[in-house]
Amino acid sequence: MWPPGCQTATVSETIYERMGGAETFTRLVGAFYRQVAHDRELRALYPEQDLGPAEWRLRMFLEQYWGGPTAYSTQRGHPRLRMRHRPFAVTPAQRDRWLRHMFAACDEVGLDPELDALLRDYFTRTAHMLVNTPDEPDEPGGPDKPEVAPPSRHRHGGRGS
Ligand code: HEM
Repeated sequence: MWPPGCQTATVSETIYERMGGAETFTRLVGAFYRQVAHDRELRALYPEQDLGPAEWRLRMFLEQYWGGPTAYSTQRGHPRLRMRHRPFAVTPAQRDRWLRHMFAACDEVGLDPELDALLRDYFTRTAHMLVNTPDEPDEPGGPDKPEVAPPSRHRHGGRGS
């Protein structure tokens, strides 16, 4: 017997379903990319003129991550996010711009607080993990050490590489 009040709950319901499925992720990622399109600095990182394909990739990745359809891996293979971000200079400042837009998108979608917190925590941890380049010393939010020579923007150009 189910405990009282649990008769209608589906034990196997995924977080994806609890979040509202495809509709929620379409709104979330749509809101995010609308903001990226207007952020000149962050937009400069995205190689494609048309953000539509990038929107599809992020949406399908997130749907898969939270237990939805697995179209991302079917079409793109194993996610390997760190490797896939290696071509882009993800600095702490760019990470913060990315997160600011994603949090604004979360505000727009307005999930229930428990699910909203899960999503924001995931984005925060993952975006921190993806940083692969130090800030320029004079970059907004960059380290306050003007006497130190700026690190090379080219991560693979050091001696011996
Ligand atoms: C929670 C954090 C993040 C997640 C889950 C995420 C996820 C993804 C995914 C799934 C892709 C497509 C990979 C592919 O299939 O080729 C992608 C591409 C990309 N990401 Fe991220 N990303 C995150 C954070 C960031 C941050 C912090 C930046 C930069 C500040 C960034 C910049 C890019 C760029 C420039 C692309 C290339 C566009 C594309 O080809 O799709 N990402 N990201």
